[in-house]
Amino acid sequence: MFANDTLKGRTALITGGGTGIGLEIATAYAKLGASVMLVGRNEERVQAAAKALTEAGGVAGARKADVRNYDDVKAAVDATVESFGSLDILLNNAAGNFVCPTAELSPRGWQTVIDIDLNGTFHCCHAAYPHLKQSRQGASIISIITMLGVTGWPQAAHAAAAKGGILSLSRTLAVEWGGDDIRVNTISPGPIGDTEGVQRMYIETGRGHLEEKKTALGRFGRKEDIANAAVFLASGLGAYVTGENLIVDGGRWLKYVAS
Ligand code: COA
Repeated sequence: MFANDTLKGRTALITGGGTGIGLEIATAYAKLGASVMLVGRNEERVQAAAKALTEAGGVAGARKADVRNYDDVKAAVDATVESFGSLDILLNNAAGNFVCPTAELSPRGWQTVIDIDLNGTFHCCHAAYPHLKQSRQGASIISIITMLGVTGWPQAAHAAAAKGGILSLSRTLAVEWGGDDIRVNTISPGPIGDTEGVQRMYIETGRGHLEEKKTALGRFGRKEDIANAAVFLASGLGAYVTGENLIVDGGRWLKYVAS
């Protein structure tokens, strides 16, 4: 749907880029001319994904890093600029979560998710900033959140607080860094049918149809829907969009509020 050179000359760093939505975005970016650096905790996984992208004709690299560790993140950012010459797009996709009633959540469990999701996003934005502001085409930071971070997320207070925090951080940076020509946005995906999470939580447990009916469109999204939104926000197509939360959820949250 996009012209093949939509992201030509841009370099993207994608956390959690070895699987799922992160890999789908990396694949779309590589096809549209960007160089992509896949960053993740599991080195084998990001290496294998980068190899597949390269074999398909893209320009891709991989780097092991835990977003909780600022030094790891900074090293990954520096390696990206060294390999590809610039950093123009930061995609904060890495996340951790588990279901647990708040009364039973240990302080370390809370801290673990806040560390991965919220602190990890801050680390990436902070380490990337000096390079992003030198982008010749204007830079873009995109973080994957969820509207559950706005509405509240029973049984996942840690993730809800982290995602709400990322939304607030993104709007803050949109204003602070707008003068550096860095746009900062979030994407809120709804239930995406071809992800491992939705397969495991809804489809394998027989709740697929019920969950589909909770969306206004009556169906699950596809990873491709999120990748398309991420292309729009990263490219010149979204050149005047900043501080925005692009909701790609088939109308799920509105239906939740309305009913
Ligand atoms: N229920 C309750 N507490 C849990 C838990 C669960 N399912 N999973 C982790 N915790 C708690 C641990 O008990 C521990 O706290 P404690 O020391 O007080 O017992 C704390 O969280 C840290 O756990 P640990 O396993 O050491 O953390 P980790 O860094 O290895 O992994 C996650 C953390 C979130 C990545 C892990 O839970 C996980 O693999 N989740 C599923 C995968 C995932 O999140 N995918 C992304 C979906 S968005």
